Amino acid sequence: MAHRVAVIGGDGIGPEVVAEALKVVRAAGVEVDTTDFDLGGARYLRDGTVLPDETLEELRGYDAILLGAVGTPDVPPGVIERGLLLKMRFALDQYINQRPFTDPAAGIDMVVIRENTEGTYAGEGGFLRQGTPHEVATQGSVNTRMGVERCVRYAFDLAMTRRKHLTLVHKTNVLTFSGDLWQRTFDEVAAEYPEVTTAYNHVDAACIYFVQDPQRYDVIVTDNLFGDILTDLGGAVSGGIGLASSGNMDPTRQAPSMFEPVHGSAPDIAGQQKADPLAAILSATLMLDLLGEEAAAAKIRTACATVVAGRDGRPETRPTPEIGDAVVAAL
Ligand code: IPM
Ligand code: MN
Repeated sequence: MAHRVAVIGGDGIGPEVVAEALKVVRAAGVEVDTTDFDLGGARYLRDGTVLPDETLEELRGYDAILLGAVGTPDVPPGVIERGLLLKMRFALDQYINQRPFTDPAAGIDMVVIRENTEGTYAGEGGFLRQGTPHEVATQGSVNTRMGVERCVRYAFDLAMTRRKHLTLVHKTNVLTFSGDLWQRTFDEVAAEYPEVTTAYNHVDAACIYFVQDPQRYDVIVTDNLFGDILTDLGGAVSGGIGLASSGNMDPTRQAPSMFEPVHGSAPDIAGQQKADPLAAILSATLMLDLLGEEAAAAKIRTACATVVAGRDGRPETRPTPEIGDAVVAAL
């Protein structure tokens, strides 16, 4: 039976890269029945719509959501980010943000598990005396035992399927409340996984290791904001942000998960078929894993690796659809 996929092409290069992802998925023999949802910055500028509750309810009926990129320069910061992306992540309880990074040439093979529903992203805080010289702005970090524990458990389970090494990244020397909850939870869950070796890095030190010695990592688990920052760096050290994929997942499968490249809408090159679709294609492989199509996912990942190896470190010059075709040819 075909998988029902909601497609949000979004803004800028989003629709261009999503088209290639769907082309490759179908070429790998997976049947998908897609429905396009017109959402993003352009839609907001046209009629003020971001993500109505009815649309969110409609999305619940799909097996997965594939998203290209959302955001346009003329929309104020936060409108699309909070109103669309974060609303979807939170409402559908996509508590795991899984971001793999591989660069066979450099010996990098790591996965960042970013907590995706809490931390500073939760929206706690506000203004006092806004716009006056005595203005106060607070933005708290929300960390629940349940939220931290389910994320940490997912990371341990994932490590068991890989090289069995898990690193907690936080800032426990300064964030003594949230850091303590994360460290205690991590240590308690670790006792249930005696085969997994563990490590702890402060986030600032992890930034050095990401650049100087990323080979040390297998699975990393971290909070929402640290994970956001660290995964841009992960992309930068493993072939560039054009290869960085992600899955916003509810592993319990109560609600659909949402798959999107880590990169943004790149308005400067939109409509020119200059974007690298590999991040979107690789994001679709994460979707296939969750849909039970692991064999097709593995085949596509190998094909993407062949295309990347063929570049031999040189910048890609082919137009977006030709890169998609090259992946199909390598399948
Ligand atoms: C990401 C993005 C988002 C985030 C923004 C656009 C809300 O940077 O997916 O990494 O901060 O999570
Ligand atoms: Mn980010």
